[in-house]
Amino acid sequence: MGASRMGSFGFCIMLILGLILNESLLCNGGVTSSFVRKVEKTMDMPLDSDVFRVPPGYNAPQQVHITQGDHVGKAVIVSWVTVDEPGSSTVLYWSEKSKQKNKANGKVTTYKYYNYTSGYIHHCTIKHLKFDTKYYYKIGIGHVARTFWFVTPPEVGPDVPYTFGLIGDLGQSFDSNKTLTHYELNPIKGQAVLFVGDLSYADNYPNHDNVRWDTWGRFVERSTAYQPWIWTAGNHEIDFAPEIGETKPFKPYTHRYHVPYRASNSTAPLWYSIKRASAYIIVLSSYSAYGKYTPQFKWLEEELPKVNRTETPWLIVLVHSPWYNSYNYHYMEGETMRVMYEPWFVKYKVDMVFAGHVHAYERTERISNVAYNVVNGECTPIRDQSAPIYITIGDGGNLEGLATNMTEPQPAYSAFREASFGHATLAIKNRTHAYYSWHRNQDGYAVEADKIWVNNRFWHPVDESTTAKSR
Ligand SMILES: *[C@@H]1O[C@H](CO)[C@@H](O)[C@H](O)[C@H]1NC(C)=O
Ligand SMILES: *[C@@H]1O[C@H](CO)[C@@H](O)[C@H](O)[C@H]1NC(C)=O
Ligand SMILES: *[C@@H]1O[C@H](CO)[C@@H](O)[C@H](O)[C@H]1NC(C)=O
Ligand SMILES: *[C@@H]1O[C@H](CO)[C@@H](O)[C@H](O)[C@H]1NC(C)=O
Ligand SMILES: *[C@@H]1O[C@H](CO)[C@@H](O)[C@H](O)[C@H]1NC(C)=O
Ligand SMILES: *[C@@H]1O[C@H](CO)[C@@H](O)[C@H](O)[C@H]1NC(C)=O
Ligand SMILES: [Fe+2]
Repeated sequence: MGASRMGSFGFCIMLILGLILNESLLCNGGVTSSFVRKVEKTMDMPLDSDVFRVPPGYNAPQQVHITQGDHVGKAVIVSWVTVDEPGSSTVLYWSEKSKQKNKANGKVTTYKYYNYTSGYIHHCTIKHLKFDTKYYYKIGIGHVARTFWFVTPPEVGPDVPYTFGLIGDLGQSFDSNKTLTHYELNPIKGQAVLFVGDLSYADNYPNHDNVRWDTWGRFVERSTAYQPWIWTAGNHEIDFAPEIGETKPFKPYTHRYHVPYRASNSTAPLWYSIKRASAYIIVLSSYSAYGKYTPQFKWLEEELPKVNRTETPWLIVLVHSPWYNSYNYHYMEGETMRVMYEPWFVKYKVDMVFAGHVHAYERTERISNVAYNVVNGECTPIRDQSAPIYITIGDGGNLEGLATNMTEPQPAYSAFREASFGHATLAIKNRTHAYYSWHRNQDGYAVEADKIWVNNRFWHPVDESTTAKSR
């Protein structure tokens, strides 16, 4: 971090403290954080780590994870793996209030990848749940059973408060474990995780050693069994390896992680939408065709006009490869998708777009770059009150390490950037206000290294200078 940058950051802080002015007017070009972390090698946790322990007992369910199972939050998909024999795919569940046990039947699948054979992967959708209710669920019926719980979201509505966690590019290093611990112990309690892709990084091992998909599933179970993680596919989910005969993209990912794509009339699990409380969440695939006439394009074209902002004021998009990224990593990889879809995001006033891929943190101003038509030369991002805030949150802590090399100078559109591992939370308060904060792993659990109040774009088309920023 250069002294000049630290100087201008200090200058901004003084201005904020002293004058309580809208700092964006004064420090154009944004902030490159002066936080200096110790750069250490990022290492995967060894196979005998505590977090990878196999639950004891014959055929005990492991790698338990849940996600939303329908479009509105009244269903949950429960997934787990058994290794000794298929066993039962049934889930027993009951609400905290009634002791009456209900039963849902799932299905079991397996897959082979090169010379790896998966365990028995179970998926079971529990339907017709009550909103805002705590449920217990029991799996592994007939052998060693395990019981977990989750809380369904409140009924969809414009002023329903709800808090999401945001994690990306997690992997299974010692730093990944810190990120997950910080998320769990953050006093701002996330109720569901929006995961922006790149889960296990098993593909970094020889022959994409799928044993590392299993260890990852066991590692994150302490969160994924109790709250839904909303999945986005990243490049590490592709697992395309023709050199070892593996030519079906996304094979391990789509066998292990089911999403409710049919509920939003999607034709593939890689792009879909859900409503949850006051949010409408659209998940896109950076690694599926998105050009004109493609299934993803047609789906999104029909999807965006369906979003009713009176019902779900918050329109959030998850995608793996960022469209705005000022680090010297994966530079411009998101550009072609931006060119295709950005005009729609401005037209439909998307509130926030979360991406991963770049292993660092960055938040933009509300900006767009939609004027360019190849001949007019207008190709600079501009401030745009109808445009989303773009956040790169690929800082989960995987073994590939941090992205520390940034383009200089920091572009005007970039509001804050820092190369540290961490996670974020988005606490929606009502139809007009949400509180967003980013937490780096080196700090105490409660410390917010970057934070803003976000004004909803539909109900609050123009930022107030007093609430737009407060760092
Ligand atoms: C798969 O093959 C690799 C080498 O090609 C070998 O090291 C590994 O032990 C094999 N794994 C299994 C499960 O056979
Ligand atoms: C991972 O984090 C948890 C919770 O902080 C801790 O109990 C565990 O020992 C950690 N494991 C490793 C391998 O770092
Ligand atoms: C999906 O399509 C069906 C049939 O056209 C329609 O009834 C339903 O409302 C659609 N669902 C969503 C979430 O768009
Ligand atoms: C949008 O949602 C509101 C509130 O749920 C509802 O009253 C209205 O009819 C919906 N509009 C459309 C076009 O469906
Ligand atoms: C940072 O990235 C730029 C552009 O790729 C490259 O020219 C430069 O050498 C890199 N700097 C370091 C310290 O790696
Ligand atoms: C929405 O939430 C914000 C932040 O908590 C609060 O200041 C505002 O008064 C709320 N609006 C309404 C209409 O309750
Ligand atoms: Fe990635």
